[in-house]
Amino acid sequence: MARLAHISDLHFGAHDDKLVAAVERRIDAEKPDLVVASGDFTQRARTAQFKQAGAFVQRIRDKGHVVLTIPGNHDIPLYDIFRRFFAPLTRYRKFINPVLCPFHEIPGAAVLGINTARSATFKDGKINNEQIAFIGETFGRIEPKTPRILVTHHPIFALPVGGGGIGKPIKNQAAVLNMVGELGLDLLLAGHNHRASREDSSEFVTKSTGALVIQAGTATSTRVRGEKQSFNIIDIDGETVTVTVVGWDGTDFKDGTPARFTRKDDRWMLIGDQGLEHVPSAPKEAAQPAS
Ligand SMILES: [Fe+2]
Ligand SMILES: [Fe+2]
Repeated sequence: MARLAHISDLHFGAHDDKLVAAVERRIDAEKPDLVVASGDFTQRARTAQFKQAGAFVQRIRDKGHVVLTIPGNHDIPLYDIFRRFFAPLTRYRKFINPVLCPFHEIPGAAVLGINTARSATFKDGKINNEQIAFIGETFGRIEPKTPRILVTHHPIFALPVGGGGIGKPIKNQAAVLNMVGELGLDLLLAGHNHRASREDSSEFVTKSTGALVIQAGTATSTRVRGEKQSFNIIDIDGETVTVTVVGWDGTDFKDGTPARFTRKDDRWMLIGDQGLEHVPSAPKEAAQPAS
């Protein structure tokens, strides 16, 4: 059994201190085996914002928690052109994590974070061929029955966006999906869209990859559209995965109804009151800008 606290899109610089303190309290109470923070630590990649974000991560580590971090598109300077192209993640490496693609093996799960943020694009994400090879090597060393979890900032699929609509899929998606299928990845975690959601990957492509796709909303940003701040608690117990969205109600974070999933015929199914059900997919509306 492994418990992950999945937080994302903290956006220090456009954050609410009240939510930051509440997230810290709640993470500590949940006693996760791993805290996963899937990018956009800052609003504009400024030093003062990274210092605040780094202090937040350090406070969680000081309480004894292990934190996996990856950068998001907001962690690359936008207006400082020199830094954007020649030293895009220097501040991230200094204040958050020198490792851009960290790997953590915990009892009951193997979790790999991959950096999808790129200087050459405003907010789209990419996993390149070198990273695909690295993912294969990393999970290739894992005992076959261990659940395999890939964490990216940008979602691999076109997923719902906070405020409505759907975002863009990741660039190089076809090669990434081949890799996901060949490696038998179990969970694909992402942020970026500021919207909590859970779907089965075979909803999005004709070739079933059999992965449960989980998005975290923004945990602490004040820039929300239509959806309140939230984060996910993910419990992995062999073939059963339970996802609880913990949402801000204006005064504190409160648990949503836990959703339990299990595999059947190479796809994830929701465990409902009447038995197994297809995972309901969010409405696919016109594309919206994501952050
Ligand atoms: Fe983002
Ligand atoms: Fe974001």
